[in-house]
Formats: sequence, C-alpha cells, structure tokens
Amino acid sequence: MMRTQVAIIGAGPAGLLLGQLLHGRGIDTVVLERRSAEYVLSRIRAGVLENITVELLEAVGCGKRLHEEGLVHGGIDLSFEGRRHRIDIRALTGGRTVVVYGQTEVTRDLMEARRASGATTLYEADDVSLHNLDAKNPKVEFTREGRRETLECEFIAGCDGFHGVSRTSIPASSLRTYERVYPFGWLGILADVPPCHDELVYANHERGFALCSMRSRTRSRYYVQCAADEDPAAWSDERFWGELKRRLDEKTAAGVVTGPSIEKSVAPLRSFVAEPLRFGRLFLAGDAAHIVPPTGAKGLNLAASDVGYLSEALVEFYRERSEAALEAYSARALARVWKAERFSWWMTSLLHRFDDQGDFNRKIQLAELEYLVDSRAAATALAENYVGLHT
Ligand code: FAD
Ligand code: DHB
Repeated sequence: MMRTQVAIIGAGPAGLLLGQLLHGRGIDTVVLERRSAEYVLSRIRAGVLENITVELLEAVGCGKRLHEEGLVHGGIDLSFEGRRHRIDIRALTGGRTVVVYGQTEVTRDLMEARRASGATTLYEADDVSLHNLDAKNPKVEFTREGRRETLECEFIAGCDGFHGVSRTSIPASSLRTYERVYPFGWLGILADVPPCHDELVYANHERGFALCSMRSRTRSRYYVQCAADEDPAAWSDERFWGELKRRLDEKTAAGVVTGPSIEKSVAPLRSFVAEPLRFGRLFLAGDAAHIVPPTGAKGLNLAASDVGYLSEALVEFYRERSEAALEAYSARALARVWKAERFSWWMTSLLHRFDDQGDFNRKIQLAELEYLVDSRAAATALAENYVGLHT
C-alpha cells in the first residue's frame, strides 16, 4: 500500500507541471502514467507557448533551456489569395510575444526536474481505477509489473488526457459535456529542414488549410488539412510536400525546403468541454476536461493554466485548511477555457475548407481575412487571443 497527498493521473504536460508546482510548495505527489516515458516523449504535439505557460515553467525551474533554445515570435502570417500578410502581434498587444518550443521539450524538461526532485512517477501503470471520490480518503488502484496495487491519497488530479479514465469515473449525472467534431483532420510532418519563413504561416486555400511551423532553425513542422480518417501511410513525403506548396502563396512556397520526414501523423479536430472540473476529491485538468482544435495553438496552454490554478487552490488548502479556492477552481479555469474554445473554433472556421461551405461562405471567409489585414481593431482581437487571455 502506498500513500501520498495528491495522486496525479497522467504524465503529460498537465500532470508533470502540476507535480512540480506542488513539489515546490512541499506537497507530496505520485504520478501514475499508463505509457512508458519514451512513448510519452515520442508523441509530437503542440509547439507554441503563451507567456502564462512560460512563467509557470520558469516557476518550477524549467525556464533555462526554454529561453536558450525557444524561438520568440512577435507575429504570425496569414496566407490567402496568393499573398502573405503579417499580423504584428507584438505591436498590437503592447509588446507581448509567444515562444516556439515543442511540447516534447517541455515534457522532457519536466521529467528531468521531477527525477531530480526525487518525486515518484510510476510509468506503465495499467488499468488505473479511481475509488471513494466523494469521500476524504479517495484511492487509486492500478496494475504494475503484473501486481495490483493501491495508492491512498487526499486528492486526485485527473490529468490523463481526452481518452483517460478520470473524466469517465465521474457519474454521467454529475457532468455536462459540450462537443463539436469537425469533419476533417490535420496531417502533420516533422523534418530536419530549415523553416520556410521566420514566423508561423497560417494558410487558407481552396484545397484546404495549411500551417508552416517549426521546432528550431533547422527543424520544421508542417500541417495540411486532410480527411478525418486519413491514413498517413497513403502520403509519401513527395505527395505531402507537393500538396503543402500548392496551398501556400508563391513567396512562402518558394521558401519551403523539402527533405525526408522524421514523423508523420494525423490528428482529429474536436471542440469539447466537460463541466464542472470537480467531482468530490477528483479535479480534472487539461485535455482530460477539454479539447480545442489545434488551429489556435491553445491545448497545451490551457493544460498549463488549469494546473496553475489547481496548484494554487491545493496550496491554499494545505496552508490554511480552507476549501474556498478548491471550490472556485472549476469556474476560474472554465472562464479561460471557454474563451480559448471560442478563439480556436473561430480560427478553425476562418481557415479551413468545409465541404458544404458553398461559394457564399468562402467569400465570407475571404472578407474576414481582408478585414483582419486591414483593420487594427480586428487584428488586435486576433493578437490578444493568440498570445493568451489571462482570465
Ligand atoms: P496529454 O498530453 O494527453 O497527457 C495525458 C497523459 O495521460 C498521457 O501521457 C497519457 O498516456 C496518460 N494517460 C491516459 N490515460 C491514462 C490512464 N488511464 N492511466 C494513466 N495514464 C493515462 N495542441 C496544440 O496547441 N497544437 C498542436 O499542434 C497540437 N497537436 C496535437 C496532436 C495530437 C495528436 C493530440 C492528441 C493533441 C494535440 N494538441 C495540440 C493538444 C496538446 O498536445 C494537448 O492539449 C496537451 O497534450 C494536453 O496536455 P495534457 O497533459 O492535458 O494531456
Ligand atoms: C503548431 C501547432 C499548432 O496547432 C499551431 O497553431 C501552431 C503551431 C506546431 O505544432 O508547431
């Protein structure tokens, strides 16, 4: 039998960051992760960090490599109708920026910090099940190395992503969910070639959306809109590069350096929110509670802000034996979540091709893109959401 104060389910960015935030305040945690550490690190996901995420990583001593290797971006480009237009985010937000630093690197830094702090992480923990959630002594059962084990705790943080066990352990009558599934996905590739441009390019094209991103000055990440059930194996590198270039304006396409892909995968697009983020002693955070389509680059940033709020609430509980902040956690986190849901839905609607959209809706998309490029007010709304709203 093991015992801890806070059992954290999931060693993605939400679980690992929460673990370090609590460790720094003297609160004991155990992280249970279904996969191996290598598997967690092999998943290529988000790349854009808001300031709120950067500050939380700094607070747990994970700012050094991020500042050395992360790329500070003060703008993004919109490509449509054969031209590229810059949105000067820094100028529109009073100097705010984002940092391009891959989720893989964030996770690696957090894993290293956790290892150095001596806190327990149990990888390859199977069949995790949650019990006594509405009592003061919840517990977690799991199987590891063929043995069924029990972890007793005071709180459980469900940081186990969309397909995890935490959200589904809450009785359906105590949870309300909101969902929109988009009829397309993103096919992404990673390649060791220099990026085509020094900032990210988001492209609206009749053939579908495309995104030019990066991980460093020598590693690029590109995405093209594809069918929701697209098989990445049907895409040779050559086919991918051809399709990408076709969707970009001439200047951007001319900058694309092609090379062999080192990863290729399809991600579905979904908007989802479960409310509230609490059931008894179980708190949900990150993708376990909500999903955004990736277009606004918000998923990882919401995971970070959720656990920022949750750690403050747990610290207050242990310091003052007050449940006030724990009671406020769900509403506080959801206020930010819903604004990011709105922004992600809007960016997705603006930039993708919808099969049933018709000529009228296509013209409306182009008018909105022109408006963004011509109007400081419209561009400011995009910019302040892109760098991240605080509440
Ligand atoms: P996760 O990173 O999903 O971590 C959850 C962890 O819990 C995982 O390690 C999982 O193995 C573990 N787990 C699951 N079930 C169990 C269980 N039963 N028991 C124990 N452990 C369990 N966001 C962007 O901003 N830009 C992007 O380009 C982007 N691309 C994405 C591509 C894909 C394929 C996916 C799935 C997401 C993408 N996201 C992107 C979203 C972003 O990566 C997530 O929002 C972010 O990973 C959320 O972090 P998290 O810690 O909440 O969840
Ligand atoms: C990346 C992903 C996004 O969804 C986005 O909006 C910007 C960048 C990326 O993986 O680099």
